Amino acid sequence: FRTLDSLDPRGKRVLLRADLNVPVKDGRITDRTRIERLTPTIRELAEKGGRVIVCSHFDRPKGKRVPEMSLRPMAEALGEALGKPVTFVDDCVGPEAEAAAAAMRDGDVVLLENTRYHAGEEKNDPALSAGLAKLADVFVNDAFSAAHRAHASTEGVAKLLPAYAGRLMQAELEALDAALGNPARPVVAIVGGAKVSTKLDLLGNLSKKVDVLVIGGAMANTFLAAQGHSVGKSLQEAEMHDTARKILEEAKANNCEILLPTDLVVAASFAPHVPTRTVGIDKVPADMMALDVGPDTVAAIETRLRKASTLVWNGPLGAFETPPFDTATVATAQSVAALTQSAGLKSIGGGGDTVSALKHAGVADRMTYVSAAGGAFLEWLEGKTLPGVAALEG
Ligand code: 3PG
Repeated sequence: FRTLDSLDPRGKRVLLRADLNVPVKDGRITDRTRIERLTPTIRELAEKGGRVIVCSHFDRPKGKRVPEMSLRPMAEALGEALGKPVTFVDDCVGPEAEAAAAAMRDGDVVLLENTRYHAGEEKNDPALSAGLAKLADVFVNDAFSAAHRAHASTEGVAKLLPAYAGRLMQAELEALDAALGNPARPVVAIVGGAKVSTKLDLLGNLSKKVDVLVIGGAMANTFLAAQGHSVGKSLQEAEMHDTARKILEEAKANNCEILLPTDLVVAASFAPHVPTRTVGIDKVPADMMALDVGPDTVAAIETRLRKASTLVWNGPLGAFETPPFDTATVATAQSVAALTQSAGLKSIGGGGDTVSALKHAGVADRMTYVSAAGGAFLEWLEGKTLPGVAALEG
């Protein structure tokens, strides 16, 4: 794919697909990571004299103008991040957008209204792609986190204009390539989270590509139960036992070591600071539930990490939002950060609540790369083609 290195944006109208789908609570932005990661691309384009027309989806208004899902407040947030005014335009296509684009001067930045106010966005309607393409001379996609969607503003429009990857897209793709595409070995993957059923493709793909696959979180209970261990009241998916055994067999055939917990932190109920016990996997009391992996397991993970050159991390090891069940996740994250800083470990994390877990552990800025993407990161780890990325390559 082409990057901004091969684009001279001076005097050009640049349609920039961003992902401004940021978390908002009571009308306030609660996490500005995506805005902060986007600003270098806007700044570079504007400083080089481009006329930057930013578009994005926000939430899921399903083709209707849902007022709470307007991108209007984001213009101010973007302006603050850039240190220059960002003009808001009430629609992403049509006469108003066209007039705004035509009136721009070199270095100007405008933000268009939510692309998902149009039903054509999610349908990848060529008419909407054409309406967007009409606004600009070139297209820059910086929305890796929306690249798993084949939508008009991610996939469709990329085929109608000369298309480039923005700096954030480029960074995400380079990090993912270093993680799985062409990684330094050995590669360790840590996969956690609640359910095996949501991570089947992920586990299948990783077991073909990595040397050690660590399985934690409640999904580990399903594997332990499938192996005949009694997991007490722990969250687990009884209907996934056969699948879990199959994953273990396939991994073995692929020479991938699967590391399951050897000890667990259990409690009688799931609440903050309840009394806990650490037990071996054969000793989970019938009336208790596992909520974190234990210290022996953390030590076993650390041993693998010391030998590793690359780490991919998706999903917490325990119920990290409820202390003390954050212990294993925090301890492991701290080892990862230390090995990244001192031993050259390439550590890449992302997807779902992984970013909040890494932030909670205070290590997000001491890893090699933490992705700003959720679903897109997961689909990439699953080995799927992301339409938004494919359109840049094609
Ligand atoms: C995300 O937040 O993962 C992306 O912005 C995609 O949002 P979506 O799941 O609503 O398509």
